[in-house]
Amino acid sequence: MSDNPTQLGHPDPTVLGHVGAHELLTSTRAVRKRLDLGRPVHPALIEACVADALQAPQGSNLMRTEFVVVRDPDRIERLGRIYREEFDGFYRESELGLFNRVDSDPRHAAQSRRTRDSAEHLAEVMSRVPVIVIPCLTPRLAEGDVLTAKHRLATVYPTVWNFMLAARLRGLGTCWTGMTLGREDEVAEIVGIDPTEVEQVCMIPVAHHTGTSFRPAWRPPAEEFIHWDTW
Ligand SMILES: Cc1cc2nc3c(=O)[nH]c(=O)nc-3n(C[C@H](O)[C@H](O)[C@H](O)COP(=O)(O)O)c2cc1C
Repeated sequence: MSDNPTQLGHPDPTVLGHVGAHELLTSTRAVRKRLDLGRPVHPALIEACVADALQAPQGSNLMRTEFVVVRDPDRIERLGRIYREEFDGFYRESELGLFNRVDSDPRHAAQSRRTRDSAEHLAEVMSRVPVIVIPCLTPRLAEGDVLTAKHRLATVYPTVWNFMLAARLRGLGTCWTGMTLGREDEVAEIVGIDPTEVEQVCMIPVAHHTGTSFRPAWRPPAEEFIHWDTW
């Protein structure tokens, strides 16, 4: 893919969209249907988002989150194919996934139906998104060491979410996906990761989003999730 600025425009990554802090927190959605597949994403925008991401809290200030940014259409096509196979395979059958689960609250059920449609769309287009970002953790988590895993993953997750918030501020839509984690070795082979050293955390499609605004999602009241003083 060309980095020719005339083809990609001249974005100034310091120019941020007019999204208030509260709006950013409550309406940064999983973007799937509104990913603009036809518009390239300038690498300067991705670089600025990674710089912002690295401002997140880090256990022991160890900076261990790295980002594979895939822009090569051939690699994206191969990653998208794996994504699609996993979506059509285990995910459609899974009890926890959106296809077989029954949500007791009708508002939750309606939202899940919309999410399912949107997720089907992403499975359709994942092979054609302009950018796929794969956040990675090095070195790999040790097998079975849950305590260390808790600390190390907790270092990665805020960094990745910061990346997604930073993307939103620059007009980019993202969606956290875990669909390909069961096929880590194949993904690793496509993007030149050594799977014995580097752990993939998720796979994020990135594209300019269409439309201008996003709304808060339905969530149950906070009081249902709080245990004051004791559980
Ligand atoms: C750990 C994790 C894994 C996810 N995996 C996928 C995925 O594989 N495919 C997908 O379309 N969305 C995936 N999502 C996005 C969720 O479906 C989405 O966040 C959820 O439906 C709520 O929607 P919202 O983020 O727009 O509020 C994942 C999110 C998380 C946190």
